[in-house]
Amino acid sequence: MATKKRCLMIGAGGMAGGWIRNFYSRFDQRNEIVGLVDIKEDILNSAGDFLGLPANRRFTDMRAAFDAVEADYCTIVIPPAVHKDAVMLAVEKQMDILSEKPIADTWEACVDIYRAVRQAGVKMLVIQNYRYSPRMLTIRQVLRDGRLGRINYIVGRFAADYRVYGAWGAFRHEIPHSLLIEGAVHHFDMLRNLSGADCKTIAGWEWNTPWSSFQGECCGLYVLDMTNGVKGCYEGSCVAASPQNSWHQEYYRAECEGGAVAIGRDSVVRIYEYTAGKGLKTEEVPLIRPEYDGHTWLIDEFLTWLDGGRTPDTVLDDNMKSVAVVFAAIEASRTNRAVDVELMMKEVAQ
Ligand SMILES: NC(=O)c1ccc[n+]([C@@H]2O[C@H](COP(=O)([O-])OP(=O)(O)OC[C@H]3O[C@@H](n4cnc5c(N)ncnc54)[C@H](O)[C@@H]3O)[C@@H](O)[C@H]2O)c1
Repeated sequence: MATKKRCLMIGAGGMAGGWIRNFYSRFDQRNEIVGLVDIKEDILNSAGDFLGLPANRRFTDMRAAFDAVEADYCTIVIPPAVHKDAVMLAVEKQMDILSEKPIADTWEACVDIYRAVRQAGVKMLVIQNYRYSPRMLTIRQVLRDGRLGRINYIVGRFAADYRVYGAWGAFRHEIPHSLLIEGAVHHFDMLRNLSGADCKTIAGWEWNTPWSSFQGECCGLYVLDMTNGVKGCYEGSCVAASPQNSWHQEYYRAECEGGAVAIGRDSVVRIYEYTAGKGLKTEEVPLIRPEYDGHTWLIDEFLTWLDGGRTPDTVLDDNMKSVAVVFAAIEASRTNRAVDVELMMKEVAQ
């Protein structure tokens, strides 16, 4: 029997504002936010007023909230550098966890989280909303139904004009490895999702440009070798002064045995089939429109999972394989060498 779940919400501003005001509003019958945390009081109170939460359910300190609030699970939507603090408090309370990507801002913190969550036996789902947008559900379906034969390689491009400081939220202009940690974690996860395999090895570089608004690395070019032999190629830029492939407009193209499937800025999924003598045939594919998509797909999956339903695809165990690619990419750039992602994962399991 499904029961209404009580959520302790960690974060009230930025993306958390969208969670509170938009995503969760579709789940009033299945979910209630019973406690709210944000270090900024004005943000806390604005979201608290929206939810109608009494003053004793609003907190500027995470620990005080975990100590005072009886909840079934917590939702973590604060910057990556403080994800581990929240996860460790949840684990102490044996509370299940729904967390924004990336798992954390360092590989060491990701591994600590992975081990603590496993040891406590709590459930943890990581948000990978782009997998569940209509455009990406559709392209994945084309690849899965086998019409184009085996996948040869996949190209992904993210390009956004964040040349003005703050254009991508202030903290991202200040942290190291901003493209990889805040951006590419979605794109590497998508290359896994589209290829149907994990990353075996990655090589390439990240860097900053002399004219950028970022203190850390904001560009990257990488090549991936997947466990099923599919190759991946990733281009990412946060200083793009060219056609934009920003959020929900990323470019992906999968080259297959019998043709290719691609999507770009216009979000039209196109299949291309070239035949010698006949030339190129192009077909547009209607988008799949599920009841829930993006974040709401994952909230629906998470609540269903808490009630004993199907385990979602992007649970902590699986998502470690996406975030490992991010930290392998950092290492590949630093050492000028290809990095063995499978070996990183084996070491985590020990
Ligand atoms: N899945 C997506 O599409 C998507 C999009 C944007 C952001 N995100 C993720 O959401 C998370 C938050 O990013 P954002 O853009 O909202 O950042 P932000 O800086 O805009 O907002 C973060 C909020 O957390 C609060 N905060 C900071 N430290 C805190 C702490 N220790 N305790 C309580 N509150 C604290 C801040 O005051 C602020 O209100 C990140 O993990 C980011 O990667 C995901």
